[in-house]
Amino acid sequence: MPTTPASKLLDRVLVLEMVRVTEAAAIAASKLIGRGDEKAADHAAVEAMRKAFDELAIDGTVVIGEGERDEAPMLFIGEKVGGAQGTGPKIDIALDPLEGTTITAKAGPNALAVLACAEEGNLLNAPDVYMDKLAVGPGYPQGIISLDKSPTENVKAVAAAKGVEPGDIIVCVLDRPRHTDLIAELRELGCGVQLIPDGDVAGVIATTNEDTTIDMYMGSGGAPEGVLAAAALRCVGGQFNGRLLFRNDDERARARKWGIEDLNKIYVLEELAKGDCIFAATGVTDGSLLDGVKRRKDGTMTTESVVMRASSGTVRWVKGEHRKGR
Ligand code: FBP
Repeated sequence: MPTTPASKLLDRVLVLEMVRVTEAAAIAASKLIGRGDEKAADHAAVEAMRKAFDELAIDGTVVIGEGERDEAPMLFIGEKVGGAQGTGPKIDIALDPLEGTTITAKAGPNALAVLACAEEGNLLNAPDVYMDKLAVGPGYPQGIISLDKSPTENVKAVAAAKGVEPGDIIVCVLDRPRHTDLIAELRELGCGVQLIPDGDVAGVIATTNEDTTIDMYMGSGGAPEGVLAAAALRCVGGQFNGRLLFRNDDERARARKWGIEDLNKIYVLEELAKGDCIFAATGVTDGSLLDGVKRRKDGTMTTESVVMRASSGTVRWVKGEHRKGR
């Protein structure tokens, strides 16, 4: 039987199938919201996502996952997923079954089940190190932001293009001691700084939605989350710069193992997620992008998801009612 080219499958089938996968992970994690147990919430999401993948007719490979084989029992980097190994289209998958484990444990905002997929070889195999991130929403001249410039220069460039004062710009930043200088520099400019406790995939995507009032995202967070956020911006527009940050030689060696030679490279969107790609997310807790999972009195679970595709720029918002739960 001839195999379906991956590009065609991305087009016709996977877009909505991917939502089933993130829905399954979100529903499983939602049972642990506010229970103070990050590991249990993550485990529930991982198990559910792994199972949901098996129902897809793909020959998938996890390129960004729960860690390396020896540290993650499921959805580890290199794991094959999908029910059509050897026959289905070859798809690379970046995933985070629960982006915001602490948020979920504390019942905070913006926890997501999230994944991105693309044809084989099109997602950066980012090691699990930190990444310096800089993002701005759509509608600005290409190249307006750069990690080679200072935060002040980037804010001034965006403010000038938007026709406002630098002090009118709102920047989202992870609330971490390592960002003390960045936050002070932004406040010196008069910027509004929206500090988030966790969940920088949602933070980066927030720049693309004017309702959030967030203009820019700055600061360091996980590199895997950087690739996931970049995949989303490939679909909805916006600009992103990412530079891997290494704390020791072990991290540098891990990057080289994944084929990364230039350790100081600044990656732009198309270098993190190339070609056509799909991004899907389901809200676990309520957030700026999506509502979280809700359980009604009759046991029905409701979900809100978004699925986007780079080549068409289509963004679909999917409301799910799961009458039998999961
Ligand atoms: P987890 O879901 O793995 O807990 O990640 C949450 C997160 O806030 C990411 O969104 C972010 O990229 C990263 O952690 C930041 O790392 P750190 O907490 O070490 O600053």
